[in-house]
Amino acid sequence: AGKVLTKQQQQKMVNIAHRGASGHAPENTMEAFQKGVEMKSDYIEIDVQMTKDGELIVIHDTTVDRTTNGTGKVGDLTLEEFEQLDAGSWFSEAYAGEEVPTFEEVLDAFRGKTGILIELKAPELYPGVEEKIADALIERNMSKPNNNKIIIQSFNHESMKKSKELLPNLSHGVLTGGSWANVTEEQLAQFAAYADYFNPTMNIVTHELVSDVHEAGMDIFPYTSRTQEQAWRLFDLNVDGIITDFPEHVYSHPVKN
Ligand code: G3P
Ligand code: CA
Repeated sequence: AGKVLTKQQQQKMVNIAHRGASGHAPENTMEAFQKGVEMKSDYIEIDVQMTKDGELIVIHDTTVDRTTNGTGKVGDLTLEEFEQLDAGSWFSEAYAGEEVPTFEEVLDAFRGKTGILIELKAPELYPGVEEKIADALIERNMSKPNNNKIIIQSFNHESMKKSKELLPNLSHGVLTGGSWANVTEEQLAQFAAYADYFNPTMNIVTHELVSDVHEAGMDIFPYTSRTQEQAWRLFDLNVDGIITDFPEHVYSHPVKN
């Protein structure tokens, strides 16, 4: 572990519970989101896709096989079929019967309690998903200027350009994988035209990348920290926030009293 922080430095670090506090409860369930709130995360991160009948649903993979007792593609199942699924047992029998939440259920349960980092997962599979997300937020009056409690992000950057047009007041982020290690200043400037966050895999984060992102006028929330050492390393690289399965790691950097 590197330097010792002041309390203030620690408090500034944005703590994002990845798919909820998914190190402690089954990812993308109400229990995981509630745990994120209890652990004082600033944001819960959620993955949003669409059912066959056009409902927004919160699940990570594009099939239900890994995280539920069902099988098949997310986009081939109706909301009613989703309601029959158990999204908890795969993690632990203690969570048997946990449901796959809808996007609107998550908004209604957690708005005002924590920030929500909304990832559009594989939006290319779900034409119209950007409009549906925008409608759900606008309906709830959650798209006003300076609402820093909502951030929208995706690996699909075209989808983010579209979403920014629909929701110009809300912050957007571009997710980037390993192939963006040598992102240029020009590319960062292009992202900054519609995005406020450049959120890379933690493996490519260096001091230089962090300062280039800052110079382009964006913040940087790397993903996905799963060990204490990984969180400390990101802390020392001066990132703005840490997307982690274990929110407690962000609060346990050595602090000066
Ligand atoms: O929030 C960033 C991170 O969630 C992106 O990767 O696969 O966990 O959705 P993934
Ligand atoms: Ca995600």
